[in-house]
Amino acid sequence: MNWELLHNNLIDWYEKNHRILPWRETEDPYRIWISEIILQQTRVAQGMEYYHRLVTRFPDIQSLADAEEDEVLLYWQGLGYYSRARNMHKAAGLMKNHEIFQLSNIEGRKSKVESRKLGDDEIFMALRSMPGVGDYTAGAIASFAFDLPYPALDGNVYRVLSRLYDCEIPFDTTQGKKHFRKLAEELLDREHPRLFNSAIMELGALHCVPTAPDCHTCPLNTWCKALANNTVELLP
Ligand code: ADE
Repeated sequence: MNWELLHNNLIDWYEKNHRILPWRETEDPYRIWISEIILQQTRVAQGMEYYHRLVTRFPDIQSLADAEEDEVLLYWQGLGYYSRARNMHKAAGLMKNHEIFQLSNIEGRKSKVESRKLGDDEIFMALRSMPGVGDYTAGAIASFAFDLPYPALDGNVYRVLSRLYDCEIPFDTTQGKKHFRKLAEELLDREHPRLFNSAIMELGALHCVPTAPDCHTCPLNTWCKALANNTVELLP
């Protein structure tokens, strides 16, 4: 397996084809976290407006933590799944006392990590311990804001992996989650986790779509087992 070529193909594709989205223009863990909470159950087009309104009114952890829950819920109105907003508000109260969330610039965070003041797993576990933050969201924040090598498995990435490995194990089981996490860890580009995770998510969102994907122009087609076995459209 030529991993380096696979990573380069995927990242090249991403650089030419990705959507410009506001949470990709920042490395601030606070903003990335807010965007990921919104996008857990909301589509990008709808989430965008809410993201802008939320980060304008609550530009940092402190302002969100200081707000009344009712006001946070008001800004969430229309998005549904209100436990997301309540958890987000609760989490801000916990984060304001946690050093990793105070480093809003990626170089500062990287140097802190590299100087071994904070281990990778320590950061991941701190993220994962926040209300409303599961494995996916913790992986997304760890990679997008800290450039740390953790997979971020959302529905789109799961589809890409199931096709790439021609694997039909359902994702919504304990065994399936474990299996796909292992595949994702194997595939991850550990030199460029931020770019790699963005790229594989975007490939699933834009190119490796559920029906009639254009496999001829896919950057991963030489490695895709489902394409070789003609099972692409049988997989989720
Ligand atoms: N869905 C979940 N997270 C996303 C992100 N960061 N960009 C685009 N879509 C997403």
